[in-house]
Amino acid sequence: MGFRKDFLWGGATAANQCEGAYDVDGRGLANVDVIPIEDRAEIVTGKRKMLDFEEGYFYPAKESIDMYHHYEEDIALFAEMGFKTYRFSIAWSRIFPKGDEVEPNERGLAFYDNLIDELLKYDIEPLVTITHFDIPMHLVTEYGGWRNRKVISFYERLCKVLFNRYKGKVKYWLTFNEINMLLHAPFMGAGIVFDEGEHKEQSLYQAAHHELVASALATKIAHEVDPNNKIGCMMAGGVHYPLTPKPEDVWGAYTSDRENLFFIDVQARGYYPNYALKYFERNGIELEISHEDKAILKENPVDFISFSYYNTRIGVAEDAEVENVESNLFQTPDNPYLEKTEWGWPIDPLGFRTTINSIYDRYQKPLFVVENGLGAVDEPDENGYVEDDYRIKYLAEHIKQMRDAVDLDGVDLLGYTTWGCIDLVSAGTGEMKKRYGFIYVDRDNYGNGTLKRSKKKSFNWYKKVIASNGEDLSNN
Ligand code: BG6
Repeated sequence: MGFRKDFLWGGATAANQCEGAYDVDGRGLANVDVIPIEDRAEIVTGKRKMLDFEEGYFYPAKESIDMYHHYEEDIALFAEMGFKTYRFSIAWSRIFPKGDEVEPNERGLAFYDNLIDELLKYDIEPLVTITHFDIPMHLVTEYGGWRNRKVISFYERLCKVLFNRYKGKVKYWLTFNEINMLLHAPFMGAGIVFDEGEHKEQSLYQAAHHELVASALATKIAHEVDPNNKIGCMMAGGVHYPLTPKPEDVWGAYTSDRENLFFIDVQARGYYPNYALKYFERNGIELEISHEDKAILKENPVDFISFSYYNTRIGVAEDAEVENVESNLFQTPDNPYLEKTEWGWPIDPLGFRTTINSIYDRYQKPLFVVENGLGAVDEPDENGYVEDDYRIKYLAEHIKQMRDAVDLDGVDLLGYTTWGCIDLVSAGTGEMKKRYGFIYVDRDNYGNGTLKRSKKKSFNWYKKVIASNGEDLSNN
């Protein structure tokens, strides 16, 4: 009983939140580089245009924790914890600096060659996110981001390079990080900055369609290059609870869930669900979907479903007047039954079990939890040691619920990677102060610090969790 023997324990990061070296070895500028710590929400949502560095702003992705030059040291620490897998993402503009070139940038590829070889040296299975909120800036300014159909073929080119280059080395791939986030953070999720008077939903769903077709094409190519490849979709998970048992609130929660599941419905089943087609019709959204697109979607469903889980949300009646709080770029009413993190995110371990089950019930495909964790303020001592019992408690409670989902509910779960296994830049706020790691990195919100890495208390705790295959969650 318990987790499968080959359960993939590990941690997760994203290129723009940890690599730094934004202009090194031929890397081109990307959307994520020009998102500063200030006015961040306005920019990631595409409401405010910032297409280059501007005076008076701090851009955390430029240097981040400089994993580009520290990956050997960082991977050695992951190996010491006993990681079975490490999830990282490819910075698209390292491989194709502008995005529309024909030949890839060898120096950019060399970085990932080395990183992957370093992982394999320790028998750590690479889990690669092909794009984690990034797109080369040239594709934003010249093509309008994922709104433009042409971007599909540029992404296809990236995939071909990656699948061929890493054949036999990388088996697990995720096509787009949190694909449903595109609706909430269009600049981050799709390189979209809205024009005056633009029909926003029309653009968002057309961009979504392009990403969905691109994802299916990636699945097709991956299987052609190597039938052993396993391709996953990835969504920002977390079920909606109804605000009250009032049927209108229950319906609100149901439809809010579908707003997220829509993406996975297409990726896992291979076609647009009727409720989405009807929604488009009612809202004047006319998508360009060719017969060929439909065939590609139909023939190439994903092999497994991955998702992040931080919290549950609340759904309400359409006409309800409630105050919202913000949690991971989603607007949701407060849940008074749950404790909150220092950033106001609800903490809901049982909601994790509910979320895992609801996804498994719907698709009956293997699942992979690729993000979960607690963003908190850490107070290191003079050696960089942090007594992060709060993090241990959070993770232990969530792993316990995940174990119940496997043991008591029979969910087929491939693995679990905690978010930000090493401290990195927050996607939502741009801060360093919001830390998730087992490894402390000496750097503050504005780039001061030595970048020295040190182990927190949770480091040895997670090592024990992995060694016991999730049986020993005690904190002693
Ligand atoms: C997920 C993203 O939404 O949440 C990550 O995939 C992000 O990129 C993580 O970092 C945690 O959010 P935040 O805002 O605390 O960094």
